[in-house]
Formats: sequence, C-alpha cells, structure tokens
Amino acid sequence: MAASELYTKYARVWIPDVEEVWKSAELIKDYKQGDGVLNLQLEDGTELEYKLDPKTNNLPHLRNPDILVGENDLTALSYLHEPAVLHNLKVRFFDSKLIYTYCGIVLVAINPYETLPIYGTDIINAYSGQNMGDMDPHIFAVAEEAYKQMARDERNQSIIVSGESGAGKTVSAKYAMRYFATVSGSASEANVEVKVLASNPIMESIGNAKTTRNDNSSRFGKYIEIGFDRRYHIIGANMRTYLLEKSRVVFQNAECMKYAVFLLTRLGPKTAVFQQYHLMLSNTWSYRDELCITFSS
Ligand SMILES: Nc1ncnc2c1ncn2[C@@H]1O[C@H](COP(=O)(O)OP(=O)(O)O)[C@@H](O)[C@H]1O
Ligand SMILES: [Mg+2]
Repeated sequence: MAASELYTKYARVWIPDVEEVWKSAELIKDYKQGDGVLNLQLEDGTELEYKLDPKTNNLPHLRNPDILVGENDLTALSYLHEPAVLHNLKVRFFDSKLIYTYCGIVLVAINPYETLPIYGTDIINAYSGQNMGDMDPHIFAVAEEAYKQMARDERNQSIIVSGESGAGKTVSAKYAMRYFATVSGSASEANVEVKVLASNPIMESIGNAKTTRNDNSSRFGKYIEIGFDRRYHIIGANMRTYLLEKSRVVFQNAECMKYAVFLLTRLGPKTAVFQQYHLMLSNTWSYRDELCITFSS
C-alpha cells in the first residue's frame, strides 16, 4: 500500500504550528495522489485547507492511534517522527508525571525542575538486580544494566549523558553514581563510595556557574571513571575534565556568574572556609570590579 493511501477521511495528522510547534488535525476528505491540498479540521473545530508544498508534495506526519500514546518505549509507536516523540513524552509527563521514557536502549529524560520522590534508597533497591524491560524507565535501570553487564561480561561499561544546557545531565550523572555507590556496598572501612559522592560539590564549586538557563551549569565536559574490585565494590574514581570555560574567570555575560567558588569571597575572609583553605581577599586584583581571591600559602 502506498503511504499516501493512509490519508483517508478521519486519518489524523500533525501539522507544523508557530506557537504549539505541532498541532493535531483530522482529514475530512480522502486525499488523492496529485491533490495540492488536504482538507483538515483542527481539534477546535476550525476547518482548514492545508497546502502541500508543490515541489516536494510531502504529506504531513500521521498521528499514532491513541492506544499507543503513553507507551514507555518510543519504538513501540507505529509512527516515529518528531511530533510523535514529543506528543508521547508530553502525555507521559503531563498525565502521569513520568519523566523517563525509553527509545530502545536509550533513556530519554525530561527535566521536571522539581524534586520527585523517585530517587530514594527504596527505589534503588527495587531496581537492583532487575531487567531493564521489567521495570518502568529510570536512570537507575540504565545504571543497573551497566552494573550487571560489567559483572556478567567482565568488561568496562560506559554511560553517555547528553543534552542541551540545563537538560539535567549533571543531575542524572549524580543519580547514576549514587546508584553505584548504594548497590556496590562498602568494600572496606574506607567508604570509598561515600568519598566519591562527596567529591561532587567540590568539583562543582570550581567548575559550575550560574548561566541564564541553569543556576548550576557545569562549564566543562566531565569524564568520570569509576573503578570496581573483583567483588564489584567501588574502589575509586577518577574524574577528568576537559574544555573548562576559562574565560568565565575574567568575563561573564549579563545575568551570568563566575565560578561558584569565587562567590565564597562574598562571605569574607573570616569564615571557616577561608581559613580551612588558606584563602584571603585581595584588593590588588580586580576583574571587572569583581573581587578576586588569592592563596595565602
Ligand atoms: N531529575 C531531576 N529532578 C529534579 N530536578 C532536576 C532533574 N534534572 C535536572 N533538574 C534541575 O535542573 C537543573 C539543571 O540540571 P543540570 O543537571 O545541572 O543540567 P545540565 O548538566 O544538563 O546542564 C538542576 O540544577 C536541577 O534543579
Ligand atoms: Mg551540567
């Protein structure tokens, strides 16, 4: 069957919209090959003659049947295109507050910008030892899969976290690390996993800064390597940073800030932090009227 034969009366499509990005519409007349327009009705009842581009004659994307919408794996959808992906993610998030969805082995995460009660030790324990497909999509399921495969195949595993600024990469990486620290248990008195987690705030204070899109933006790329012993306990971690935005030290755009560690200077040299790290205020250095710190030793 030619794809165009699917465009019959009552078929539903997505058409581009300046405000809503994609708008749903229903065909009120069968489409015949060669037609220059589609006769559509929008959800608010408005009828519309939708002109097809005469050069490409591309038909709009078809909408998935409602029964498929809300699936926890995007690959289960009949039509997988941008409006289908966005609509499915939106329905899951708005109707059920679900921020995680799979697309095969890839986990798609929506930043909820609020603390959700889905990261506790009870949830970690629920995911521990389970198969990815048996549980709701979650960053813990991805972490569990990597942990399990490391143990089973005795091979290094990598989790790649990507997304635009403010998407939730740093937070996701921290939850994955928390998962490993919790399930791997303590190998020794040294509590290495606690130390690995405790290193995060220090890393962030010297590498994170407020931007217009993220109050705690990591201004560098981060490669975190976590080492496990033969019994799969954490024995150490190695963090390599790259592409640190050095220019931020001396220049910040409007409404952006310098690295968090420099803001400690506002607390003044008498604070414990200053004494602990032998820091003092310097009046001799001034970058764009901002205070700067020097090391006293
Ligand atoms: N899973 C989440 N739950 C709650 N808040 C989140 C989550 N992911 C991100 N956030 C919020 O969004 C902000 C930006 O996320 P962050 O991980 O720093 O973005 P990125 O590293 O991708 O630039 C965080 O400071 C946090 O307030
Ligand atoms: Mg970040």
